[in-house]
Amino acid sequence: MTTRLFVNMRLATMRGGAPYGLLEGHAVGVENGRIALVAPEGELPSGWHGAERVDLGGRLVTPALIDCHTHIVFGGNRAREFEMRLEGASYEEIARAGGGIVSTMSATRAASEDELVESALPRIDALIAEGVSTIEIKSGYGLSVEHELKMLRAARRLGEMRPVRIVTSWLAAHALPPEFKGRADDYIGEVVLPGMTQAKAEGLADAVDGFCEGIAFSPDQMQRVFEHAQTLGLPVKLHAEQLSNLGGAAFAARHGAISADHLEYLDAAGVNAMAEHGTVAVLLPGAFYTLRETQLPPVQLLREAGVPIAVATDCNPGSSPLASLLLTMNMACTLFRMTPEEALAGVTRNAAAALGLSEEIGTIEQGKAAELAVWNAGEPAELAYRIGFNPLHLRIGGEN
Ligand code: NIG
Ligand code: FE
Repeated sequence: MTTRLFVNMRLATMRGGAPYGLLEGHAVGVENGRIALVAPEGELPSGWHGAERVDLGGRLVTPALIDCHTHIVFGGNRAREFEMRLEGASYEEIARAGGGIVSTMSATRAASEDELVESALPRIDALIAEGVSTIEIKSGYGLSVEHELKMLRAARRLGEMRPVRIVTSWLAAHALPPEFKGRADDYIGEVVLPGMTQAKAEGLADAVDGFCEGIAFSPDQMQRVFEHAQTLGLPVKLHAEQLSNLGGAAFAARHGAISADHLEYLDAAGVNAMAEHGTVAVLLPGAFYTLRETQLPPVQLLREAGVPIAVATDCNPGSSPLASLLLTMNMACTLFRMTPEEALAGVTRNAAAALGLSEEIGTIEQGKAAELAVWNAGEPAELAYRIGFNPLHLRIGGEN
């Protein structure tokens, strides 16, 4: 049994009434990878007096960070598209011309599982170096049963190779591969649904996602996908209202989705549906920034309705080639006018909720996994404030 007592820190627990759930002068006791104690240093139960003490030098301690929306496993890159967009082409034009997600599909199909792992590792390591302990990874660039499963196997392997919890999503309903052009319903029947069954059977999928958009799938088409997920007992989530308003978030909320993601074009009805069904809003400022989007997600409406807001990198080769969750927090503040406290909640407590892991991670409290980030910082606002600077001192935990 390994028992350690962390002392001399400022604890941003991200729960309770004080801003950031701040506690001063408290110790955290860790036993077998769980938080076994959070108590004032002067009032430690006698059992803890002999524990190994780790002095954190007055530093700020937060829950380890959680990136709850990534497409971090993929083949190739889309730097050429970046150039094309700068020459005036839009994301939708590029997608319709066979670029975009479909070009990454070709590179992903051509890559072996080993190559996918190798190319994702530096991005995973960049997140870990910023105190991230949990990363969600979606399929969605294979677009056939074989290659979608290959992506998720690569994702699982990343979790074995590094001290990080990987949560996977089956996102075969991301785009229509060329061989199914004009036959979206066949694609769903022949690839999305049977592949999902297989992914579930092999323990490769923790949830099911889809891209609900004019250039992807309609709510009616997603209905079949969600119904199948529900028969398999898999939670659902949806990319919704990124480029237009198809009512995807409200549709997802009615199906009990754990999150609806992107949401720039979300309207009041969608916000209310999410509030009513407890669906978390996942905002992705990296995609907003990269696509030079001007439509802002309705942050104030979400706040007023009490919808929990998470923030994630959306790390992918097209719309968000971003592998920094700290920079994402900064963007959430500067671009979306979220507060630094909301940004930190967005990558801790609310990111855990977006993954259905609120019981396990996301706040510092007794009983949860002991996954903490120790920062060379005093004020929690410092984490979202700097640009391109990583003040991580130490990451505690993160192994499964
Ligand atoms: O989350 N919105 C759809 N999917 C990704 C983009 C994928 C890509 O362009 O490769 C996203 O932004
Ligand atoms: Fe995404």
